[in-house]
Amino acid sequence: MTSRGFALFLLFSAVARADEQDVPERKSCDERELERNRFYTDVKTHREISLTLSHKLLDALPLDEVDGRFIRAVKVCVFSQSQPTPLKDPLTLAAVSQDALRNILDLNESVIQNEEFVLCVSGGKLFPGSIPLAHRYGGHQFGYWSEQLGDGRAHLLGEYTNRKGERWELQLKGSGKTPYSRSGDGRAVIRSSVREFLCSEAMHFLGVPTSRALSLVVSEEPVWRDRFYDGNVIKERGAVVLRLARSWFRIGSLEILTRSGEFDVLRTLSDFVIKEHFKSIATNNPDKYAVFFSRVVNETAHLIAHWMSVGFAHGVCNTDNFSLLSITIDYGPFGFMESYDPNFVPNSSDDEGRYSIGAQADVGLFNLQKLLEALKPLLTSDQLSQCQQILREYSQTYHQRFRELFKAKLGFLGNQENDSYLIAFLLKLMEDTGADFTMTFRQLSEVTLSQLQTGAIPLSMWALSGLSSHEYFRDWVQLYLKRLSRMKSDSDAARQHRMQGVNPRYVLRNWMAESAIRKAEKNDFSEVTLLQKTLTEPFVEQEEAEKAGYSNKPPSWAQQLRVSCSS
Ligand SMILES: *[C@@H]1O[C@H](CO)[C@@H](O)[C@H](O)[C@H]1NC(C)=O
Ligand SMILES: *[C@@H]1O[C@H](CO)[C@@H](O)[C@H](O)[C@H]1NC(C)=O
Ligand SMILES: *[C@@H]1O[C@H](CO)[C@@H](O)[C@H](O)[C@H]1NC(C)=O
Ligand SMILES: *[C@@H]1O[C@H](CO)[C@@H](O)[C@H](O)[C@H]1NC(C)=O
Ligand SMILES: *[C@@H]1O[C@H](CO)[C@@H](O)[C@H](O)[C@H]1NC(C)=O
Repeated sequence: MTSRGFALFLLFSAVARADEQDVPERKSCDERELERNRFYTDVKTHREISLTLSHKLLDALPLDEVDGRFIRAVKVCVFSQSQPTPLKDPLTLAAVSQDALRNILDLNESVIQNEEFVLCVSGGKLFPGSIPLAHRYGGHQFGYWSEQLGDGRAHLLGEYTNRKGERWELQLKGSGKTPYSRSGDGRAVIRSSVREFLCSEAMHFLGVPTSRALSLVVSEEPVWRDRFYDGNVIKERGAVVLRLARSWFRIGSLEILTRSGEFDVLRTLSDFVIKEHFKSIATNNPDKYAVFFSRVVNETAHLIAHWMSVGFAHGVCNTDNFSLLSITIDYGPFGFMESYDPNFVPNSSDDEGRYSIGAQADVGLFNLQKLLEALKPLLTSDQLSQCQQILREYSQTYHQRFRELFKAKLGFLGNQENDSYLIAFLLKLMEDTGADFTMTFRQLSEVTLSQLQTGAIPLSMWALSGLSSHEYFRDWVQLYLKRLSRMKSDSDAARQHRMQGVNPRYVLRNWMAESAIRKAEKNDFSEVTLLQKTLTEPFVEQEEAEKAGYSNKPPSWAQQLRVSCSS
């Protein structure tokens, strides 16, 4: 049956179902699905979007026995069924990722003209086949166990397998209350939604493993927020982002099961994640949980090194914000470091700097220790000590990857004895002078060797020019030039080309996001669009982006900016 046919089938059966009289108390999944479709049938016109979702997660994993979205402690399950709460009209489709639309969901771009689409990506209507779920997880937040957390304002809509055979999970964020909402209202404001939409797409185009964002819908629904936790509550507006990831499971997804002694569910979920997402691990491998752990350790080390190489600080590296697939998820008070500073903290309330950019590798290790604790019931004592050994190698994996990435940023080929020293030396000069992280590396990719040699660095290269005032800059340049000259078959043009391919000219700086947000809050999405377009090709100089000042020294008003933590 075509997807359209399937959707219509659901609609017709929903009508038939509605005629029946006595609905039993406990409903099967199919029955609930039909009922749900009946509810949505008369919302709007019947034009369907040709995107049919499946529910492998629902079929494979235990579901909450209790129905309804009232807030509660949930036991012995991985998901609760939970319907999105539609946002209040009028809705505006503020941004769409054409890449995600076409290359992940196989949709034709004309679909965004369809009002059904806007409803489907904001929770007002369900895609055919969708049975929305809220995920139960726990987590260590700021070092301490936080009990049950869970999707408090997100709904997993189902999975889509695209024409390339990739399976993607669709999730709404800001789509209303679930059993896990605690004291929250289930909504997200425009501000945080613009940031998540822009940054997750930007990270993808920087080449960093990340969740994606399909769309951003803003509404007129009032949402009350105390932006800086200072008692000043203001009215903002609700927005919904449709996010995509191969999987949304987190370290906290396993932790809560171990903490509650639900070892059968722990095994079921771990087996599921391994079977679906770590396909090279044989399901009958007696060491499969240890192998799985080693993969997560390796990939987390790689991910954090990658963050460092683009100056990205996640801001809230709690175990509930760390993906089991080692992709970047949960964009909150993140930031791209401007002046180089290992103590850079993007969350303005994180006074002790637990999640400073320079602490991320250590926090990654802490989180992996928590993952190991969660897996412990599945491991023999031999396997456990094997895993502890793997953890001891994390730091080496991280440093090795860090070195590789920074060598590439400096244009080095091969290994030479002083490479690490050259990297550390440069970072020290940058720290001393507060050099801009992104533009220092970018301008090193654009400057010619003869300019470096003679010290004739153009003033337009503002970051490099500032750095060159350091008393040891000449010393570093001499070592750098010597290192480059040892690559016999290299040319300056080849070096510049290589370096420009890994050192972005544009990243989502806070002031840029803030400027786009101020306009978006007045229903002007032009800068969201410009930023989105710019950050799709962060390594390529673009006329419009230059005109907007995106590679300039940050404006002075940016220095007073604080990233709000309420979202
Ligand atoms: C998208 O749909 C339009 C109108 O239905 C059609 O003209 C166009 O060729 C389609 N584009 C692609 C890439 O399939
Ligand atoms: C570690 O992860 C990286 C990034 O995914 C991958 O390229 C590499 O092959 C992995 N190494 C091992 C030993 O699994
Ligand atoms: C990420 O962590 C923060 C702080 O612990 C938490 O408030 C937030 O809900 C998490 N993000 C998501 C989407 O789970
Ligand atoms: C920022 O840091 C403070 C202090 O550690 C913490 O209470 C707050 O939850 C953090 N913000 C977010 C969004 O996690
Ligand atoms: C490495 O650095 C040391 C100390 O600066 C220097 O003596 C040595 O010649 C360097 N080696 C190379 C291969 O450049």
